[in-house]
Amino acid sequence: MGVTLSDVTVRGPELELRWSDGRPTSVLSLLWLRDHCTAPESQHPETKQRLVDTFRIPDDLSIRSVTLEDGGRTLRLDWSGDGRISRFDAKFLTGLRPNPDVLPIARKTWDRDGMSAGVPQIAFDAVMADDSVLKEYLEAVARYGFCFVEGVPATPEATRAVATRIAYIRETIFGGYWDFTANMEHKDTAYTSMAIGPHTDGTYSFDAPGYQMFHCLAADCTGGENMLIDGFRVAEIMRGEDPVAYRTLTEIAVPGQYLDDSRGVHLMARRPLFRLDESGELVQVSYNNLDRAPFQLDAERQLAFYRALATFGRLCNDPALQYRRRLLPGSVLLFDNWRVLHARDAYAGYRRLAGVYLNKEDVESRLRCLRARAGEPV
Ligand SMILES: [Fe+2]
Repeated sequence: MGVTLSDVTVRGPELELRWSDGRPTSVLSLLWLRDHCTAPESQHPETKQRLVDTFRIPDDLSIRSVTLEDGGRTLRLDWSGDGRISRFDAKFLTGLRPNPDVLPIARKTWDRDGMSAGVPQIAFDAVMADDSVLKEYLEAVARYGFCFVEGVPATPEATRAVATRIAYIRETIFGGYWDFTANMEHKDTAYTSMAIGPHTDGTYSFDAPGYQMFHCLAADCTGGENMLIDGFRVAEIMRGEDPVAYRTLTEIAVPGQYLDDSRGVHLMARRPLFRLDESGELVQVSYNNLDRAPFQLDAERQLAFYRALATFGRLCNDPALQYRRRLLPGSVLLFDNWRVLHARDAYAGYRRLAGVYLNKEDVESRLRCLRARAGEPV
């Protein structure tokens, strides 16, 4: 039945809430409660947007009474002055957290051995037909940073259909859905048959693509094996074994750039290789040594940066941390570009690769809605 309120006490401008399961007391100010009132005149019933004029809430805000209703499932406040009534679900109050935008994820970092028993995968027909399978797919991507969809027809239409089942396709300077063989249509090594070392895409973009999807539509070639590396695992290793280098890579913002004079494009952005949130949690790995733009550091910092970068590069190139696989028609790979680095061996012959970028927020939005529909916390 969920946690209920067992008691509430008014302490000046605050309420102290006690819970039936003995969890720590919650303290909420009257100002906050009034600002979050869910009555129809305070919050739009359809859009859930705030209608309360936060800045007209009086300084001397007070309540006439506070009551627990429905066996402690509801907190009721009767406000002084305008006689408005606010009701709050105990479930809503227990779910409050400082970072509601961050999806709770039981992340499981991995290395080569961790993937030896089998990689996350899901069947094309099921994922297209069933929302609960789609949720399973996105949960796997959240947990491991990647997942394959198997049994996909090797066509542009089917590839695009898998992507748009999740979210709309992101437009970039490369277009939206892309589909190419080796050529120099774009000034980027990704469009050649050369080996490409471990990297994330979009280090030159303020909002690097959250996810990438690859589908190899034809592979009449030798070589060209793909590698995935869990950047969060690399971060864990560095934090444990070389904390100074780890800290250096969380502190120094590295500029990335994409240059194509002929089209008048010069993109630049800057962020640390390991980007942390305000509480020190790793949120993004961002690394493309090819696209690193020249930038100035004092001599000591520069040395520390190169040392730390070398450690990171060595770990990314350690076969024990790489999951290798030759991408073949029928298997669609989706991976988290804020976490998983990708790489590819050189190849000889014909290879046709298709794919898309999806935005971080759009994929998370999809998963959030699927979780909510399943009655799970978001
Ligand atoms: Fe790439």
